[in-house]
Amino acid sequence: MTRLIFLGPPGAGKGTQAQILAQLLQLPHISTGDILRSAVAQQTHLGVKAQSFMDQGELVPDQLILDLVQERLSDEDVIPGWILDGFPRNVSQAIFLDELLLAINQRCDNVINLDVPDEVLVTRLLARGRKDDNEEVIRRRLAVYREQTAPLIDFYRTRQQLVSIDGNMPLDAVTEALKDVVAL
Ligand code: AP5
Repeated sequence: MTRLIFLGPPGAGKGTQAQILAQLLQLPHISTGDILRSAVAQQTHLGVKAQSFMDQGELVPDQLILDLVQERLSDEDVIPGWILDGFPRNVSQAIFLDELLLAINQRCDNVINLDVPDEVLVTRLLARGRKDDNEEVIRRRLAVYREQTAPLIDFYRTRQQLVSIDGNMPLDAVTEALKDVVAL
């Protein structure tokens, strides 16, 4: 049974590593960014509402995210464990998740913070070239991360759930460090 949260700035490698680990552990990888991008691509009600926030590098309002996460964490395939990537993203989402996990009698084992210097992040994201990977939006995403998401590092450190990993290593080395955390 493994339950992990991936924290870290845009471009830190959360999605890449969460996907690898999810495959190794045979657990669902729950990325709120992927769920939102798929909603935008399908132009669902959620996607239409989320799109402008994502295009500008802002967080989508909590009310669009919280029900979605609650529903996903009540699916049967998450009973053996899960890897959350991109959620929680601010303190109110983290408090919501705490209360939700308490209500469904689950506990997150570790919160993985991938640490990567800003200039490396910008270079990686410009090379990737997703729709929100242009320099102006990347800088905004980094600022939003610092203002709203980085406070979660202390939030989870205080709860003794935080594990920081150097994300500025070759991809395989980061994976090896993560495998140590989950004792693989
Ligand atoms: P989201 O999809 O979560 O994007 P993000 O946090 O900006 O993260 P990225 O996907 O850009 O980076 P990553 O850390 O996953 O890195 P990756 O593995 O891709 O969110 C997008 C938007 O959705 C938000 O801006 C917001 O609007 C909205 N949203 C999502 N969740 C939300 C929430 N909970 N609340 C409100 N709004 C929400 O790697 C990046 C690149 O680097 C890749 O090309 C990869 O190949 C490369 N790379 C990875 N690791 C390495 C390495 N070790 N060495 C070299 N290159 C590497």
